[in-house]
Amino acid sequence: MELTRAQEIFDQLYGNLPGYEIARAEKQRTGRGDASITYGEVLPAPFHEMVSAVSPKPGETFIDLGSGTGKATLLAAMLFPFSRLVGVELLPGLGDAARQVLQRYDAEFRPQLPPEHHGQRIEFIDGDMLEVDFKDTDVVFAHGTCYSPQLMQQLAVKLEELKPGARAVIAGQTIQSPAFSLLGMKVMRADWGSSITALYQRR
Ligand SMILES: C[S@@+](CC[C@H](N)C(=O)[O-])C[C@H]1O[C@@H](n2cnc3c(N)ncnc32)[C@H](O)[C@@H]1O
Repeated sequence: MELTRAQEIFDQLYGNLPGYEIARAEKQRTGRGDASITYGEVLPAPFHEMVSAVSPKPGETFIDLGSGTGKATLLAAMLFPFSRLVGVELLPGLGDAARQVLQRYDAEFRPQLPPEHHGQRIEFIDGDMLEVDFKDTDVVFAHGTCYSPQLMQQLAVKLEELKPGARAVIAGQTIQSPAFSLLGMKVMRADWGSSITALYQRR
């Protein structure tokens, strides 16, 4: 789907959704105060540019590690020919919000979209990205500017389980692993500011 049409649907889905407030309330409710759960959201055009740079192919799969209210996952579904998309999020209130948006997408928008969108499987799961099995995923996205060094170290080890040819788009962080070749570095603008985004391919 064209970016302009995806942006229109995205605006209708997310126009009134207070992602930052939900994140704040969830931090209080869960008592978590670590930097890794600092909230922030992608913007459609910069996200489109980042994922385009790793050339998703029809039938490939996508995961957003730390998916918040689901913006990156739903944009990826609208903009690219992924067959399966997963968002994994630690704070359940954000996951609930993402699942509600997905319900609206399915009811109000998806039926009118071209057929290639009808069969896409989209799911938001609650949990820790380090405990999710995503080794068969083709394109991994992480808006990880605030992820702690410890989380990034553990994530780098997990990313090594990806199959050769898989790509990782990591905003705000780099991974140090000989298992990956660096495809490029780009600046990604988000709703809170900009971060250097590293694009990797599993060797
Ligand atoms: C910067 S936000 C990104 C939200 C969404 N991906 C986007 O770009 O619009 C990072 C998210 O990662 C979540 N997070 C942090 N650590 C996590 C972990 N270990 N497992 C799953 N989610 C995590 C945070 O709660 C937060 O919602």
